[in-house]
Amino acid sequence: MSAVASDGAPRPGEIEEFERVAAERVAGVRDLGTLEAAVPELTGRRSPIAGWKRSLGGLAPEQRREVGRVLNDALVRIETLVEQRREVLARADREARLAADRLDLTEVPPAPGSGHLHLVTQVREELEDIFVGMGYEIADGPEAETEWYNFTALNVPRDHPARSMQDSFYLATGDHESFLLRTQTSPGQIRLLERGELPLYAVVPGRVYRRDTADARHLPVFHQIEGIVVDRGVTFGDLAGTIETFVREIFGEGVATRLRPAYFPFTEPSAEFEITCTICGGSGCKTCSQTGWIELGGCGMIHPAVFEATGVDPEIWTGFAFGFGIDRIAMMRHEIGDLRSFIENDVRFLTQF
Ligand code: DAH
Repeated sequence: MSAVASDGAPRPGEIEEFERVAAERVAGVRDLGTLEAAVPELTGRRSPIAGWKRSLGGLAPEQRREVGRVLNDALVRIETLVEQRREVLARADREARLAADRLDLTEVPPAPGSGHLHLVTQVREELEDIFVGMGYEIADGPEAETEWYNFTALNVPRDHPARSMQDSFYLATGDHESFLLRTQTSPGQIRLLERGELPLYAVVPGRVYRRDTADARHLPVFHQIEGIVVDRGVTFGDLAGTIETFVREIFGEGVATRLRPAYFPFTEPSAEFEITCTICGGSGCKTCSQTGWIELGGCGMIHPAVFEATGVDPEIWTGFAFGFGIDRIAMMRHEIGDLRSFIENDVRFLTQF
C-alpha cells in the first residue's frame, strides 16, 4: 500500500494508484474473514485515505475542497467494491454451508456383504459330492433318535459298556422306548437297511451330540458322515480303498494315513482311521495330544448282528460301514488347531474360508 507523503498530502497520482491497488486486493480476497480483516487498511482509520484526509487542514481552501472531493469519491468507490465483494463472498459462504448440511436422500448405502456357508458345511457338501461321484446316495436321519436305532440295533444292548463310551443326552422316555440326541450317524445305517433295498451304497451326513467337554479335538455338538455299502462279495479291501479314495480327494497326497485295529460293536473286524496331524506335521503338538496322529473315524465290516436286527440275509450280503468326523476333516485340512474356533462365531475366523 502506498505510503503517505511526508507533509501528509497525497502526491499526484497517489490516490488513483491506491484505488487501483485496493480494487485488486478486494477482488483477490477469497473469504469473508480475510475481507473484513482488510477493511481497516482499505477504507478505515488505517487506510491512506484516512491519513490524507487528516492532512487536508494544511491545504488552501479551494485545494482542500478539491482534494477532499477526490478522496471522498475514491473512498465511496472502494467502499462500494468492498460491499459488492462482501455480498458475493457471503452468498458463496451460505451456499457452501447449505450444501454441506443438505440431507442427501439419494445416497446409496453400501450393500451389506453377503455371507457364505460355514466351513463345516462346505466340507460336508464336498464330501457329499465325492461320494455321489462314486455312485453313493445321500440319506438323512433324525437327530432325536430312539435307543433302538442309536444303540440296540447297532449291537449295543442296554447293559453294554459301549453305551457309556458315548455319554448321551437323553430326552423323554416314551411308552416303549427312550429318545436321545443321536450320539453318532450310525443309526442311519439301520434306517437304510430297514428299507430292504439292496444293494446299498449310501452316506448319511449330519449333526451328532455327546456329553463331552469341549476341547481342541472335541465339541459336544459335532458332525459325522456315515457310510454304508452292502452288496455281494464286499471285502475289507473295498473298504480300505474307498477310504483312501475320499481321503486323497479331500487332503491331496500330502498326508500320511493309517488303519489301526479297533473295537466297535456293529463292525467286525473294526478299525480306526488316522492321518498325520497337519498342525505339527506329525511331530506332536497340543492338538494331537503329542501323538502326531488325528483320528478321523471308525470303520469295519458290518457285524452279522446288525444284519440280523434289520432282516438282511448275511449268507447273501456282506458290507462295510464307516463314520468320520466332518469337523475334524475340516480342521485338519485347513490346519485349524482348535475345533472350538468353529463355534465362536468370530467373523475374522469364519471369513477366511
Ligand atoms: N459311530 C462311530 C463313532 O461315532 C464311528 C464308526 C465306527 C462308524 C465304525 C461306523 C463304523 O460306521 O463302522 O464313534
